[in-house]
Amino acid sequence: MRDWAAARTKRLEISGIRKMFELAKPGTINLGIGELDFEPIDEAKQALSKAVNEGHNGYGPTKGMPELRDSIAESLHINRKDVTRENVMITAGATQGLLVSAMALFDHGDEILIPDPGFVLYSPHAIMCGAFPVKYSLKQEHAFVPQPDEILELINTRTKAIILNTPNNPTSGVIDKDTIRAIRDIAIDHDLVIISDEVYDKIVYDGKHYSFLNGDYDNVVYINSFSKSFAMTGWRVGYMASSEELIKDLSKIQYYNIACPPTPLQYACQKAMEAPDNKIDERVNILRKRRDVIVDRINKIDGFTCLKPNGAFYAFPSFDHDILGMDFAMKLLEAGMICAPGSAFGSGGEGHLRFSYANTIENIEKGMDILEQVAGTIPMK
Ligand SMILES: Cc1ncc(COP(=O)(O)O)c(C=O)c1O
Repeated sequence: MRDWAAARTKRLEISGIRKMFELAKPGTINLGIGELDFEPIDEAKQALSKAVNEGHNGYGPTKGMPELRDSIAESLHINRKDVTRENVMITAGATQGLLVSAMALFDHGDEILIPDPGFVLYSPHAIMCGAFPVKYSLKQEHAFVPQPDEILELINTRTKAIILNTPNNPTSGVIDKDTIRAIRDIAIDHDLVIISDEVYDKIVYDGKHYSFLNGDYDNVVYINSFSKSFAMTGWRVGYMASSEELIKDLSKIQYYNIACPPTPLQYACQKAMEAPDNKIDERVNILRKRRDVIVDRINKIDGFTCLKPNGAFYAFPSFDHDILGMDFAMKLLEAGMICAPGSAFGSGGEGHLRFSYANTIENIEKGMDILEQVAGTIPMK
């Protein structure tokens, strides 16, 4: 039979994490999923059913509801005072924002700098647009912060964009102010677009989140989402901010991609933003306690080294055991816990495992018992 898949489809591989999830038995402790175990706040849930019942079920503007774009623009003033609704577009999750960015900006043959290890969408999106992902490293010895010198060395005349992600998935690394400035200066010198995925910006434990949107470089495409901060992964609402000019280009692609973001959900997200208590601080405090438990447990296991995440909700320890990450994760799965092998996020993630601590302390403790027991059966290098 004819193979109908286009060349670009054939070049894509199913995500390693999905493969793991499909193999899990019921009752398995899930420290694999990048999703908070919280609910959207009541005000947002009520606003959603109200919007549906009141008939806000039709198409809306391609760039999203003006009122929501206004609220988002205002929330971004901590980064840039001149952001208005004309700089903002609502998307179907950060996922679609990232795809729209790739489709609107990447040409065949362009080179796109992406983090390794890095979130699973960046490389496939570049490939789907005929561009080449070129990896820069995130290393534990540098607290998983990109090194401007390395980025500089990777740039050539074909380089079009740098994708950055802070706080980072899978490493939980947070990029400091000076590194942000240095990378922004490199982008300005080489006329590159910065695509900055900041979906974990509100989940920062100590200190403050620094954004690539901060400053006067207009060629920044800022990506964010309601998924993580507002515990609304299934609602599929995200947003992006950029120069008016780039937003016009991005909205052209958005129109031919999804016509408009989902209408009733935007009403609900608006309410979530306006709510007097969005519960984010309370939830970050819960996550902080879980982080402290998991990091402490992992560091007590022979051969493991785990940095304390300052953002997001992933522990990304290295291990000295003589085994590939995928095989290690499979052994853990057989013993009753799902985690993600670091290699699912790129070859730079080999030798690491990713544990999401978006789970109860009880389950985290049970998961760590399994890790301790399984790790004890694997010889060291
Ligand atoms: C770094 C990063 N960016 C983007 C996304 C996708 O977010 P959304 O649910 O808004 O599509 C995720 C989800 O795990 C993520 O970890």
